[in-house]
Amino acid sequence: MGALETASPAPDSRETTGRYIVVKALEDGVVIMGLTRGRDTRSHHSERLDAGEVLIAQFTDITAAIKVRGRAEILTDVGTVDSGHP
Ligand code: TRP
Repeated sequence: MGALETASPAPDSRETTGRYIVVKALEDGVVIMGLTRGRDTRSHHSERLDAGEVLIAQFTDITAAIKVRGRAEILTDVGTVDSGHP
């Protein structure tokens, strides 16, 4: 049996049922921030990508919104958008 089959289930299935987005950085120093769900909206995590790097990020019970700063291509369920050129 392979490692994936023997891995224990996630402690909270709500953490693994959220939608994903894909962010491809089009310049160095793109920042992706996870914003908290609930009454307060604060950044709980950020990732910095260099040009060509890709991050696949998930909405969870912790993450309600995702903010991207810098030039990037963003793929979501509702479509594709470019950030970073006003
Ligand atoms: N704390 C907010 C909430 O749970 C986070 C949030 C959801 C948000 N959607 C947003 C923040 C859109 C900015 C924009 O509702």
